[in-house]
Amino acid sequence: METRKILVTSALPNANGSIHLGHLMEHIQTDIWVRFQRMRGHQCIYVCADDTHGTAIMLKAAEQGMDPETLIAGIKDEHEADFRDFLISHDNYYSTHSDENREYATLIYNRLKAAGHIKVKSVNQLYDEQKSLFLADRFIVGGCPRCKAEGQYGDNCEACGATYDATELIEPVSKLSGGVPVLRESEHFFFGLSEFTGFLRTWTRSGTLQDAVANKLSEWLEQGLQDWDISRDAPYFGFEIPGETGKFFYVWLDAPIGYLASFRNYCDRVGAQRSAGDGPDPQQGGVDFDTFWRPDSTAEVHHFIGKDIVNFHALFWPAMLSAAGFRTPTRVHAHGFVTVDGLKMSKSRGTFINARTYLDHLDPEYLRYYFAAKLGGGVDDLDINLDDFVQRVNSDLVGKVVNIASRCAGFIHRQFDGQLAAQVSTGLHDELVARADTIAAHYEQGDYSKAVRDIMAMADQANQYIDEHKPWLMIKQQDQRDRVQQVCSDGLNLFRVIATFLAPILPVLAEKSARFLNVSSLDWAQLPTALTDHRINAFTPLMTRIEGPDVEAMIDAGREAPPPTDKPPAAAQPSTEDSPPGQTIEFDDFAKVDLRVARIVDAQTVDGADKLLQLTLDIGSEQRTVFAGIKAAYEPSELIGRMTVMVANLAPRKMRFGTSEGMVLAAGPGGSDIYLLEPHAGASPGMKVT
Ligand code: MSP
Ligand code: ZN
Repeated sequence: METRKILVTSALPNANGSIHLGHLMEHIQTDIWVRFQRMRGHQCIYVCADDTHGTAIMLKAAEQGMDPETLIAGIKDEHEADFRDFLISHDNYYSTHSDENREYATLIYNRLKAAGHIKVKSVNQLYDEQKSLFLADRFIVGGCPRCKAEGQYGDNCEACGATYDATELIEPVSKLSGGVPVLRESEHFFFGLSEFTGFLRTWTRSGTLQDAVANKLSEWLEQGLQDWDISRDAPYFGFEIPGETGKFFYVWLDAPIGYLASFRNYCDRVGAQRSAGDGPDPQQGGVDFDTFWRPDSTAEVHHFIGKDIVNFHALFWPAMLSAAGFRTPTRVHAHGFVTVDGLKMSKSRGTFINARTYLDHLDPEYLRYYFAAKLGGGVDDLDINLDDFVQRVNSDLVGKVVNIASRCAGFIHRQFDGQLAAQVSTGLHDELVARADTIAAHYEQGDYSKAVRDIMAMADQANQYIDEHKPWLMIKQQDQRDRVQQVCSDGLNLFRVIATFLAPILPVLAEKSARFLNVSSLDWAQLPTALTDHRINAFTPLMTRIEGPDVEAMIDAGREAPPPTDKPPAAAQPSTEDSPPGQTIEFDDFAKVDLRVARIVDAQTVDGADKLLQLTLDIGSEQRTVFAGIKAAYEPSELIGRMTVMVANLAPRKMRFGTSEGMVLAAGPGGSDIYLLEPHAGASPGMKVT
């Protein structure tokens, strides 16, 4: 197998809040992949950094009466400790507020400019005269220009889902001063993204993205790309644009460049250590920046990110890199969002859980395992169901995996002085080893849930093997002693294979197992080589059960100490995050609801109504007219012919535009993110929904 050179990154967490379950999922997902690659003998370097620039951080520092530099230094320490304690094996954790980042941001900007990709345009923006700054969208509230809902942010309306320019808001107010902002003209610098449409059409379809992501991007590419505003006016915490005064790089320009900066810093650090004679892990070999980043590089670059920041990584970033003479990423791995018990993480429910809150109560490997068990390679959201979490960890890891070792180790120790038998007597060992390539393929594709499923099936087989031979009965018969040693040695060898397969997910379990099996480490390459005629060390408990009360205590602690949010409240996630679970009803009330499959035979916009569509629904026996507030989410034409689910026995309701004879069921946070419920294929109009 050829040794690959791989550089891996996770998205750079914002330096204005704590690490939470969402960040952890991403870093655990990345770390499993990285550890897997390293275990297979590849050179795999994992870098990250804090994302430190922007208005939010500047204001937060001011609010706390400190320099932004002091604020971000404190947060960086906290983030690094959190990641370390979750066993995330970054080779370098750096900061976007660094000399290296300034250097690369400047270099890239200058190259883009020299190639004619930077344009200057005059922009009219809302300005807060009291605070003397231009207002970012999230710092302005006003009436929605479309539905007139009050208190909407400067970029989109949570009530109707409209997107607009902040200058269109009705009676805008600055959230910073409470004053009325004024329009002021300013020169902005734009990156000519539109010129890269052709390049990106090809790039996004060249195996760099998951299909679902590539499809989403195609829609944007077909609509046409707009040039990207990469400058912000002073005051701003960031890098001043070279050759300009009072103009700064927009945080999202220098954030991905932070990947280069962190890697550069790593190369220099390792280089310095080497020349000082105390080099790092020799397995990592020498690292040369250009080997990884020159346009014709054969090294790989992999970014792990959330689906909310795909446009920055799969449009802006490759365009910038290629225009500036660097290679583009090998692959961008996007993931979905973490939810807890089916709902968005929420402070009031105590499910907005910080890394530290978790660590105060639970073992990090529980969470690493649970995420792995649920992560496919796609962009679906990942739900943490707390009961399922406890159940899975206890029954899989403690009940199955660790159990194999603990039930065999005692006999070997007490009865045979720690000595394993001279050979392996079951074909099961080679059978499990033979599945290594399949497991490896699952890891490689990021489909950890399949890897876990297969590994747990192996643990079941190993336990069955021991159950069949019942060493605890055999030991009572003197003439069966050798068989006990044999069966328990077999069991421990099966355990060794299983723990090796799990090592990328559970590095501490792997390390403890190696210690007790008395080997230097659990290596992929060693899989076929069983431990025979070998003395093991005393068994120490490898993992203990999760106790329900610890989970409850963690939730309570999370509720008491809500962390600050690190996402703009209105952007991308209009939500009903904290909507209380409504009034309860009795089962009989629910049973009265008559749900039917309906075919949408017509869909029309409604004159004078911003949110409504008039639907004509066929429920087999008759047609109904229903007004539904889904206009922001669906084009009328795309609805015609589709099946949905309706409440068929709702009393007709007179509305301003006509009478609504029922209600269609939809789900989603609101605005344009509303999804009509669709019955299973094969459903026909009028069918009862149960
Ligand atoms: N600073 C930017 C990234 C710059 S990368 C050059 C940013 N920071 S963030 O702190 O808001 O998010 C960091 C990463 O965490 C993103 O990939 C984001 O998708 C991910 N997550 C944040 N909340 C999340 C969940 N609730 N669930 C899963 N991942 C989420 O974006
Ligand atoms: Zn609106």
